[in-house]
Amino acid sequence: MKKVLVTGGAGYIGSIACRVLKQEGYEPIVFDNLEFGHSQSVGEFEIIEGDLRSYDSIKNALVTVRPDAVMHFAAYLSVPESVEHPIKYYENNVIGSLNLFHAMIELQINKIVFSSTCATYGQPTHLPVTENETFKPESPYGQTKLVVEQMLDWFYRAYGLNSIRLRYFNVAGAWPDGSIGEDHNPEVHIIPLALFTSMGKRKSFTIFGNDYSTIDGTNVRDYIHVVDLAYAHVSALNYLEDHSVTDYFNVGVGAGYSNLQIIQMIKQVTTIDFSVEIAARRPGDAPEIYADNTKIKNILKWEPKYSLRDIVESAWKWHTTHPDGYKDM
Ligand SMILES: NC(=O)c1ccc[n+]([C@@H]2O[C@H](COP(=O)([O-])OP(=O)(O)OC[C@H]3O[C@@H](n4cnc5c(N)ncnc54)[C@H](O)[C@@H]3O)[C@@H](O)[C@H]2O)c1
Repeated sequence: MKKVLVTGGAGYIGSIACRVLKQEGYEPIVFDNLEFGHSQSVGEFEIIEGDLRSYDSIKNALVTVRPDAVMHFAAYLSVPESVEHPIKYYENNVIGSLNLFHAMIELQINKIVFSSTCATYGQPTHLPVTENETFKPESPYGQTKLVVEQMLDWFYRAYGLNSIRLRYFNVAGAWPDGSIGEDHNPEVHIIPLALFTSMGKRKSFTIFGNDYSTIDGTNVRDYIHVVDLAYAHVSALNYLEDHSVTDYFNVGVGAGYSNLQIIQMIKQVTTIDFSVEIAARRPGDAPEIYADNTKIKNILKWEPKYSLRDIVESAWKWHTTHPDGYKDM
């Protein structure tokens, strides 16, 4: 069975990717420092506790595991925090990735799938957003992901490190039975925050701006189910099996939902009403962002299968059975 080292495999997306890898016949081995990860989310899989900011730590893990490929999820991901503490972000996201790639190259492990983001594009100039959109990251977070993508370009040419960079849009949802899901601290994403309001953990929900030129005046984003995203990683891995390449793909469903449409779906699924407040626009929020996913469909033969309702239903199962997240397990 092919071994895949999953950095950040105790985190939200990495833990779901491990389950999908197993379903698809791979053996995932987690590498995580557990700063934001949860050992409970790793379950049956082997975990190596280590930190990417230490070259020896990641090199030793690679020597021990000798994986056929790596999926690289580990990073810091808070946009506002990155603006306040950019050094922290460059150190973890850029130096951590450099250590990983360097050790892989030394050990001749030559396949990697990297978690990138549509934050590399910043405010899009065209909709839907294609991979040809110009890069204008608006935060150190987006910039660090772009730097790592560029590293992968050069490392392919110089060292033959094959890579697929997946630029995620808005990731949401949980494992369909609700057994593992999203537990970020602090939580900043709209779907968990709105579900916390349904559960009474928050008094009301705030939408920032309802005067954008969108369907109902609120921001529109592309929401992808985390299980669909995990399958995109497996498609990328399979592609790397027989292609010597570095390439990049948007991963989104190719359509947007407004904040009010999300709230409406949450109220329908939970059958709970709650109050929604409208506040001023936040600086830097683009009115509308959604992906053109033609390239990934054509080349990696990947298709999203889950709907917005599936996303909300799975997240609701996870949050209602784990109201305090992994602390409940
Ligand atoms: N969640 C989203 O909506 C979203 C959107 C776009 C891109 N991404 C990217 O996807 C990836 C995973 O996101 P997530 O939501 O699962 O985040 P997460 O915080 O739940 O998971 C990240 C994991 O990486 C680990 N980690 C961080 N730094 C590490 C280090 N130096 N050494 C070892 N382990 C380390 C953390 O402990 C955590 O378990 C990130 O790279 C993120 O930038 C996420």
